[in-house]
Amino acid sequence: MKIGIVGIGALGSLWATKLRQAGHDVLAITRDHSPRSISITLDQQAEFEIPANNLTQLSICQAIIITVKSTQVKQAIEPLFEYLPSNIPLIFLHNGMGALDQLGEQWNQHSLYLATTTQAAFKPSSQQVKHTGIGQTLIGTYRKTKLTPQLDSIIQVLDSALPKVVWHKQINDALWQKLAINCVINPMTAIYHCKNGELLQSQYQTEVDNLINECHQVMQAAGQNQSLSELSSTIKQVMLATGDNFSSMHQDIHHQRTTEIDFITGFLLQKAAQHQIACPHHQALYQKIKQLEESFI
Ligand code: PAF
Repeated sequence: MKIGIVGIGALGSLWATKLRQAGHDVLAITRDHSPRSISITLDQQAEFEIPANNLTQLSICQAIIITVKSTQVKQAIEPLFEYLPSNIPLIFLHNGMGALDQLGEQWNQHSLYLATTTQAAFKPSSQQVKHTGIGQTLIGTYRKTKLTPQLDSIIQVLDSALPKVVWHKQINDALWQKLAINCVINPMTAIYHCKNGELLQSQYQTEVDNLINECHQVMQAAGQNQSLSELSSTIKQVMLATGDNFSSMHQDIHHQRTTEIDFITGFLLQKAAQHQIACPHHQALYQKIKQLEESFI
């Protein structure tokens, strides 16, 4: 198969190298559309030379995986519109919710899919990627797209290259769950300069529990039926399992980059406002992250 990967950050590089390793053709699309090829070493073992930025070849790809951050989805995908026939599945993989809602009406005919993953990757340098955590990738519908036989065979290819990849009938449930995880872990680790696992320490417990409680209220109002104790144990489980990692928002703040706060806590606060639910703890974290971002300008 020929698969396009838009965004060659840690996850994009992981997908590009794993698909090449499995014998597939990969076309990488980088931010500035300039290099004709990129070279990436996977786990300090194999080096892959990957053709890049030949935009006319997008039309012969069987699927495109868009791994840019939620803040970059619109600016990464809009310039590719003229090269992308509407029948090619576009699979968006990023933290947060609401990024696709920002795309213009011209995308309504396209086959858009949403994905979420617990695979973890780290890019120690621009030419290296490390697969730091084995997880699974769930793919599901955005608005009215369906699991077609074409998409089913793409899922099988993706699953054999970087297992597990499965179709999820209720992707919204999985996205809400990931949103809650990110709403608690990401801003706190960025503000308190700590690793994910440190949030399990007693000094953070009251704040963690308040944040989980507010998340749970909004999720209930949005039709998510998980119990508070289930949600709490899922989030704390992720803190434990990724205990030694610095969250993506911690890294963004550390490198003075714009964070995904608008698509994480911002999305939660938007839904809270629609349902008239007060979320003072999330509101406070949102403001602190915004202040930190403003101090970088
Ligand atoms: O954004 C992140 O860093 C990750 O989604 C997570 C799960 C919080 C692990 O670090």
